[in-house]
Amino acid sequence: MTQDELKAMVARAALAHVRPGTIVGVGTGSTVNHFIDALATMPVPVAGAVSSSEASSERLRRHGIAVLDAGAVQRLPVYVDGADEIDARGCMIKGGGAALTREKIVADLAERFVCIADAGKRVDVLGRFPLPVEVIAMAAPQLVRRFAALGGAATLRAGVLTDNGHPVLDVRGLEIADPFALETEINQWPGVVTVGIFARHRAHTCLLGTPEGVRTLVF
Ligand code: 5RP
Repeated sequence: MTQDELKAMVARAALAHVRPGTIVGVGTGSTVNHFIDALATMPVPVAGAVSSSEASSERLRRHGIAVLDAGAVQRLPVYVDGADEIDARGCMIKGGGAALTREKIVADLAERFVCIADAGKRVDVLGRFPLPVEVIAMAAPQLVRRFAALGGAATLRAGVLTDNGHPVLDVRGLEIADPFALETEINQWPGVVTVGIFARHRAHTCLLGTPEGVRTLVF
């Protein structure tokens, strides 16, 4: 199976976590694109979606699925999103698609985070994938120096601004042994909008696509 077929398989499997007639939180990325396409095939549809990016919103609308503002809902039963890496506790690196801030906002509204990912995303220690950090442009140079002091090499993602209009730093060379502590630390730095460590908002369940089928990890 190709990586894309694994993504499509877990995206379809995620439908089992979505109750018809409810509002679902929807992430961003190529795996989520398959999930959005699968959502559109539900015999009894969802009532709508709260989306984490303009790209996902556009795809949802193309399928005739109503997109609601985050402010219009108090709680979501479930948020479904991909990840760039996920560890044994369900902590993740996210933001490869530069949607990390809205992803964390929508995840924060949800009772459950269901991560959908191909098996290559499962790691023992987070950090091989460059850590995305959405930042205020003015602070970028001093944040690069802060990451260097931690042993990380941060570079601006060329030609990319988030849906919120901010640049993204990608930080290479971090071995994230304690995702909770590092997320808390980086969140304190002036100029950081969102760090792509999802420890406080880790997954409750991960549907992992393997050549043998969908492996369900519960954290
Ligand atoms: C976007 C994300 C995505 O969930 C992550 O990059 C995984 O993407 P894909 O499903 O394309 O592999 O965090 O900001």
